[in-house]
Amino acid sequence: MAKRRIPKLSGGAGERSAPGRISRRTFVTGVGLSGILRAAGGQSGPRSADGTPEQIHITWGEDPASSVCLSWASAAQALNPRVRVTQSSASRTVHAVQRTYTDGLNGQTVFTYHASLTGLKADAEFHYSVTADNDRNRAQPFAASFRTAPRGRKPFRWTSYGDLATPNTAWTLSSPQSAFAVKAVEGFQPLFHLLNGDLCYANLNPAAQPSVWADFGNNVQASASRRPWMPCPGNHEIEFGNGAQGFSSYLTRYTLPSNGTPFPGLWYRFQVGSVLFISLSADDVIYQDSGAFVAGPAALQPAPSTGNAPIPPGTSLYVHGYSQGAQTRWLESTLQAASGDPNVDWIIVQMHQDALSSAKNGNGSDKGIREAWLPLFDRYGVDLVLCGHDHDYERSWPVRGCNHNVGRDALSGAPVDTLQPKPVITSNPANGVFDTSRGTIHFILGGGGTNAPLDVYGVNPDSGAPQAKVITKPNRPIPAKTPGTFTKLGADAVEDAVWSARRDTDTGYGIAVFDLDPGSPGAKTSITISYYHALGADRAATPDYELFETVVLAKGRRA
Ligand SMILES: [Fe+2]
Ligand SMILES: [Fe+2]
Repeated sequence: MAKRRIPKLSGGAGERSAPGRISRRTFVTGVGLSGILRAAGGQSGPRSADGTPEQIHITWGEDPASSVCLSWASAAQALNPRVRVTQSSASRTVHAVQRTYTDGLNGQTVFTYHASLTGLKADAEFHYSVTADNDRNRAQPFAASFRTAPRGRKPFRWTSYGDLATPNTAWTLSSPQSAFAVKAVEGFQPLFHLLNGDLCYANLNPAAQPSVWADFGNNVQASASRRPWMPCPGNHEIEFGNGAQGFSSYLTRYTLPSNGTPFPGLWYRFQVGSVLFISLSADDVIYQDSGAFVAGPAALQPAPSTGNAPIPPGTSLYVHGYSQGAQTRWLESTLQAASGDPNVDWIIVQMHQDALSSAKNGNGSDKGIREAWLPLFDRYGVDLVLCGHDHDYERSWPVRGCNHNVGRDALSGAPVDTLQPKPVITSNPANGVFDTSRGTIHFILGGGGTNAPLDVYGVNPDSGAPQAKVITKPNRPIPAKTPGTFTKLGADAVEDAVWSARRDTDTGYGIAVFDLDPGSPGAKTSITISYYHALGADRAATPDYELFETVVLAKGRRA
């Protein structure tokens, strides 16, 4: 087994203290920001609230070959926030746009800045520095470099995982593994990284959501300031008090390609070479209720400064159907255009939740995605679906269509139509190369860096074959045993996971590396997928990622 050791972290993630930790009570009572937020980029200095850039990250603009957005936050309002960008010997200054939100639970106002860099040369390296007039490091501001995407059919690499959390173990679900995971991305030097939702679990730390986001942003900065990190929203981005769907924090912090709908930032597309990437917000279509939730017995009490009322036990922010079909209509028109585009060889979908997951202790598969989107993936030939949500690694066989009425109710055993995805093959192809023009392969890549691995998988007790839990209806809060408290039930159905090809039972943590070979005219194009897992990380955080498996896809070029 090939072994690739990721370089050790400078500063040691495991040793990272929890800087500026304050009690949750302090946050709830809405004490001022001074002294709370972190220094950026590992630079030391007084913790005064000023315009010093932190949480610096890059996303692709509308065209990755010519545009990126540089985004950051600061503890207080930045004066004259700006980016100096240099390519070869030519420099220019781009002023940033401010976007703020005030957290609906602790009343903290978050200042973010976004500088769109357009008209860039393709496949070129750019140096930049980011500063403001009240940047305490303005004599030597934060500086880094990034690369634009190539134009046309060129080889490139991307990486992916979801469910990252922060290295600050003061926060629920955080783990030092999340710092090693960021270093792992840098170890592979991809053109960009796909972050498949559940970014930091701020909503599990309701009194301190902005601080959790800050720890997340400062952790990922080590990579996201050097290459685009393209996210999709997960259920843990849904926060009480922060917008109709709870995504205000996520949407304020990220500038993402437009989608032309009333829901900017929640779904988008971008193309690199001959690969179309489509990022979706699956909370819109899933049945599972997994956003912000108050279990009780106490109500969730927002800070008085917010003016928001207490949130009673049993309340959950359930956003199923929030776009009223707008997202699915956009998806269909985007796929339809791509399927007839001679410049698109591959279609890769990113979303957080899972249509095909057989995790035993996790969430399982959601019928909502199977109903809303799998028929579109079939019709327009989506090659790969990259997810998170269950904190493990699972790969499906290529699937097309579904079998009906082969699931069972989890309690009664009565037949349930789970829309069981139908594999087009159930053994490895003779030449070892998968043809995704025959079926879509789903990957669960939920092993970023939480403290909750889920690498135990379902087994049919009668046959010993893989079995999946399937959520086929909403699991809204119901009264629990303890009076005044509430709970949500798990998946309501099971099915044989006839579509499951590989499950990593060694560890719940890893990173997927995708290498595109565009091929030559008239020949095949291929994607080599290498999944590296962090052995031992279920017990203790580790910087070591080893190769678990390699999967090769190939298909004819369109043009
Ligand atoms: Fe997660
Ligand atoms: Fe999730």
